[in-house]
Amino acid sequence: MDRERLVRHLSAAVGAAHVLTDPALKASYESDFTGRHTGRARCVVRPADTAEVAAVLRLCHAAGVPVLPQGGNTGLVGGSVPGPDGDEVVLSLRRLTGIGPLDPDARRITVGAGVPLAELHRRLRPRGWDFAVDLAARDSATLGGMIATNAGGERVVKYGTTRANVAGLEAVLSDGSVLDRLAGLPKDNTGYDLTDLLVGSEGTLAVVTRARLRLVPRPAHRATALLALGSLAAAVGVLARLRLLDSLELAEFFTADGLALVLEQSGLPAPFRTAHPVYLLVECAGRRDPSEELAEALDGADVRDDVRDVAVALDAPDRRRLAAYRERHTESINAVGIPLKLDVTVPLAVLPDFVAELPALLAGRARPYLFGHLAEGNLHVNLLDVAAADEEAVTEAVLRRVAAVGGSISAEHGIGRAKARHLHLTRSAADIAVMRSIKAALDPDRLLSPHTLLPPGP
Ligand code: MLT
Ligand code: ZN
Repeated sequence: MDRERLVRHLSAAVGAAHVLTDPALKASYESDFTGRHTGRARCVVRPADTAEVAAVLRLCHAAGVPVLPQGGNTGLVGGSVPGPDGDEVVLSLRRLTGIGPLDPDARRITVGAGVPLAELHRRLRPRGWDFAVDLAARDSATLGGMIATNAGGERVVKYGTTRANVAGLEAVLSDGSVLDRLAGLPKDNTGYDLTDLLVGSEGTLAVVTRARLRLVPRPAHRATALLALGSLAAAVGVLARLRLLDSLELAEFFTADGLALVLEQSGLPAPFRTAHPVYLLVECAGRRDPSEELAEALDGADVRDDVRDVAVALDAPDRRRLAAYRERHTESINAVGIPLKLDVTVPLAVLPDFVAELPALLAGRARPYLFGHLAEGNLHVNLLDVAAADEEAVTEAVLRRVAAVGGSISAEHGIGRAKARHLHLTRSAADIAVMRSIKAALDPDRLLSPHTLLPPGP
C-alpha cells in the first residue's frame, strides 16, 4: 500500500485530525527530550481507544508497515523515537487517558496507557490511596510507557519496579488482535503470565492500551532527610542501617559536582554551608510520624560519625525543596549539553570501587555526573563533553566494566536502540535466543519497534 493510501485508511480509522504528516506537527514525536535520539516518522497516529489502536495495527500489518508505540516520550535510550529512514508509523497512546473507578476493596484501578503518572497520583492521593511507582518525569511519563519499559524510579526500595505494581493488562498484537488480561486477579494460575511478559518488553511484543494497577494505602506521615557524607562507601553503610526501618521509601544519591550544577542551573540555595563529596536523600513514610525513628537511626553509633550534616523536612513544600536537589539533575545536565546517558546496575558491595575506577576508565574523554537510586545500586552515569569519535569506546568501556563486576547494562531505562548492540554483555546467547523466539511468535513480521531491544540480526 502506498504512503498516501495508508494515510487515507488511517485517517478513516482515527479521524484525519489525528494523523499527523506535517513535519512541524510531527517534530516533537521524532526526538527525545535530550536531543540525543532523533528520527523521522512516516506519520504520527493518535488513536483514542483500544478499538482504534487495533484498527491502526491491522492496517499497518496489512501494509507491512512498521509501528513504533510512543507514550510520553520521556525514554532515554531511543526506544520511543523512530529511526532515520522515515519508515515507521509512530503510534502515540497519549489520547488513551481514561481512569476507571477506584476499587478500594480489590486495591486496584484501571487506567488508559496515556494517563500521565502525576495525573494518576492527583486522582488517588486525596482519597488516601497511591500508585507506588514515582519518578522525576512524572508530569510527562505515561503509564503505558512506564509499563513498556518497566520503569523503576525512586521508591523501588519499598515497592519494587512497575512490574510489581501491575496486576493486569490489555494489549494489542501487531496483527490487531487484542489480549485481555485486565482482570488482574490476585490468584490466577492459568498458564503463561502474559502480563509479566509484556511489562518491560519495550513495545516489541504488543502495544499496551490499558492496565489494572495495584494500589497501596497512602501513608499519612512523611519525613525526608538530606544527608551530607564523606564518601559513597559511607552512603552505602548509612543505607544499610536505614534499611532496617520498615518505613524507608526512598534512598537517592548524588555528588558534589551534580549538586553544584543543579544550584548553578536552578538558582536554588545550597542545602548546607559547605560542599560535601556525596549526598543521600532519604524518605520514610508511615501511618505514624516516622521522623523520630529516622532521627534515632541517624544518631546510632554505627552511622553518627559518617553523617557530616543533615537537613530534615516534614511538611510537603520543604520535602519537595530537598527532593529538588536530586530530581533537577536531569534537566540541569540537559541544560549544559547533550549527555551520553548510561543507566546501569552495579552490585552495592562493589559500587564504591566501581565509581572510584570510573575516571581511569573514562581517561579524560568525558565529564561525568553520577547520581541514582542507591538501594538498587542503580547508577545514572551521565557523560558530558564526549567527542563523537569517542562515544562508542566510552560506552563499551563503561558497560564492559559493569558486566565484569556482575551488574546490568540497563537498570531501569531499557535497552531501546541505544544499547541493543550491547545486550550480549549481560544477557547470555541462550537468553537472547529465547527472547528472539518470543519476538518471532508474537510479532512474526517484526513490525513492532523493529529496531528496539532485538534488532534484526543473526
Ligand atoms: C532519574 O532517576 O532521574 C531518571 O532515571 C532520569 C535520568 O536518569 O536522567
Ligand atoms: Zn532513575
